[in-house]
Amino acid sequence: MSTIGGMRRVEGREKVTGRATYAFEYAVEGAAYGHPVQAPIARGRITTIDAEAALAVPGVLAVVSSADPPPLGSVEDPELAVFQSPQVAYHGQVVAVVVAETAEIAREAAETALRIEYQAEPHDVVLRPDHPRLYAPERVNPAFPGRTEKGDVEAGLADAAYTVDQTYTTPALHNNPMEPHAAIAAWEPDGSLTVYDSTQGATAHRDTIAAVLGLRQDQVRVISRHVGGGFGSKGTPRPHVIVAAVAARAAGRPVKVALTRQQMYDMTGYRTPTIQRVRLGADEDGRLTAIDHDAVEQSSTLKEFAEQTTTPTRVMYAAPALRTTHHLVRLDVPTPSWMRAPGECPGMFALESAMDELAEAAGIDPVELRVLNEPAAEPESGRPFSSRNLVACLREGARRFGWDRRDPRPGVRREGRWLVGTGVACSTYPAYRRPSSATAVAEDGGYVVRVAAADIGTGARTVLTQIAAEALNTSPDRVRVEIGDSDLPRASLAGGSMGTASWGTAVVRACEALLKNGGQEGRADTSEEVAAGSAFARHAFGAQFAEVRVDADTGEVRVPRLLGVFAAGRIVNPVLARSQFIGGMTMGLGMALMEESFVDPRFGDFLNHDLAQYHVAACADVQDVEAVWIDEEDPYLNPMGSKGIGEIGIVGTAAAIANAVYHATGRRVRDLPITPARLL
Ligand code: MOS
Repeated sequence: MSTIGGMRRVEGREKVTGRATYAFEYAVEGAAYGHPVQAPIARGRITTIDAEAALAVPGVLAVVSSADPPPLGSVEDPELAVFQSPQVAYHGQVVAVVVAETAEIAREAAETALRIEYQAEPHDVVLRPDHPRLYAPERVNPAFPGRTEKGDVEAGLADAAYTVDQTYTTPALHNNPMEPHAAIAAWEPDGSLTVYDSTQGATAHRDTIAAVLGLRQDQVRVISRHVGGGFGSKGTPRPHVIVAAVAARAAGRPVKVALTRQQMYDMTGYRTPTIQRVRLGADEDGRLTAIDHDAVEQSSTLKEFAEQTTTPTRVMYAAPALRTTHHLVRLDVPTPSWMRAPGECPGMFALESAMDELAEAAGIDPVELRVLNEPAAEPESGRPFSSRNLVACLREGARRFGWDRRDPRPGVRREGRWLVGTGVACSTYPAYRRPSSATAVAEDGGYVVRVAAADIGTGARTVLTQIAAEALNTSPDRVRVEIGDSDLPRASLAGGSMGTASWGTAVVRACEALLKNGGQEGRADTSEEVAAGSAFARHAFGAQFAEVRVDADTGEVRVPRLLGVFAAGRIVNPVLARSQFIGGMTMGLGMALMEESFVDPRFGDFLNHDLAQYHVAACADVQDVEAVWIDEEDPYLNPMGSKGIGEIGIVGTAAAIANAVYHATGRRVRDLPITPARLL
């Protein structure tokens, strides 16, 4: 039997037997199907839309486009202003939807009978560090200063005994949740709207959808009980949801829209490519004298999304001089968005690669270099850490991995065709928390806890069941947790690795209220508790170790061993936490070796639009991947004592692998992914 700590997913049986209902699968009576039509040019305008032939196809019910713009309310996100203008801002932007009795008819009519003509204009889709329109954004996602500086960076570099000055690049990357984005929109006779959507947060999606459609919040209900992954791409409503709603209004029927995997590449966000310059200086002993980290990245002409790429450098190492900056250029591209650890993930690839280069330059072991530069307080803010066990992670990882037997010389270990090497890099991710609310009631001899949380495959429903049972001092089988519905008490997103901390606080407070008022009903809203904030800098940390083998003839890289050691507060559920960590590390392995979205400068499009050409790590790519953690007591976080774990696993993995590739081959690859072509 499983213990509470290792409790298995409460909806596991439903999922493996196919009874868990995902967004597209709801049996909505009278549903029609919408097929979004996408612009084939990267910039320009629509000159003609002729829907006559499409409407004549048997089974076609409606065509909606900017020829007759559907009325919308207040649209903050220009990506959601669908069919409002004939302007085209990027290749793949949705320009029309065809609604039909079946998905096949809708697609057939869209592709063969709908006539749309365009006036193309020259486009610019290539990110380069010397772009004339480069600018420094004031704020980076979500609201960090774009630029920070303390001390004299140039003096620190000039005084250094050892320096590194290198540029690292990461490509555009696409979120590929197993469940593609889908929505069903159903208007009720009273003018209210029900949306079945695959989202990371029913409350926030409801609020945005209501505003965009000019409805009151209580006129919209978003239902999202099961979600097959998101990685950030389902953190905000994507255009297809609004498309489904306006299509349903036009057709007078509920409408289902399921994006194809190919359509997702243009319509559901992606990780911006980055060009990062890192300059490090260190004294004779290896102590940092200066850190300078700049990131160049892109956004769209529609809106500014500035990834917080260099923010992790603000928390990692002690240095008297520290500067972090961001530069952005707005191109004729889809708007980048969140992808698992936006900021930390690409930023730490650059910083942790540079630290490895510094270790080499200074002749210091890479683990020791990091230990040597451990800060006493958060480097940028000077605030004390609520807890920081990075050194413990490095030491424990080194012990488990057998690091002390490592010969530092690069390119000297060969087993047959394989060059063998090992590498290390650090992980970090902030411990966020947002306001949420919850109710707990005694019902049917047990308890029901309600909170508009989202389980995107993490096991949130299970963890909240545990947390409620603990707070109620009862067993988890007497607790039922309802989530995934905007009619439930409002709650924050499954994003920023803050789900458990945010919802869990509300659940604990609701349960406490129930016990206090005699056991009937407890309600909680954590707005005040969360707004009180903290005097502490709160982050999780980790250390990742990789062993690689590089085929000396073909440049193929294999990763026989990956070990992550994390310090993330109290681990509420070890089984689910391990899955989160190794899932993140596996995605990091894909980032290191395979994942890359290619832009075709001629057409302004991503060339690879599916999993046949955009390679994610599969079972055969992953050999021995293990995650463990340091027990960390931190009273300054939340009632559970937990830090988020959904994203930290992907932070640092790519650097650990790149550093191991250097150790194996003597070749430093600074541009991801590390393909055979880059090693030969
Ligand atoms: Mo995560 S990229 O904050 O959903």
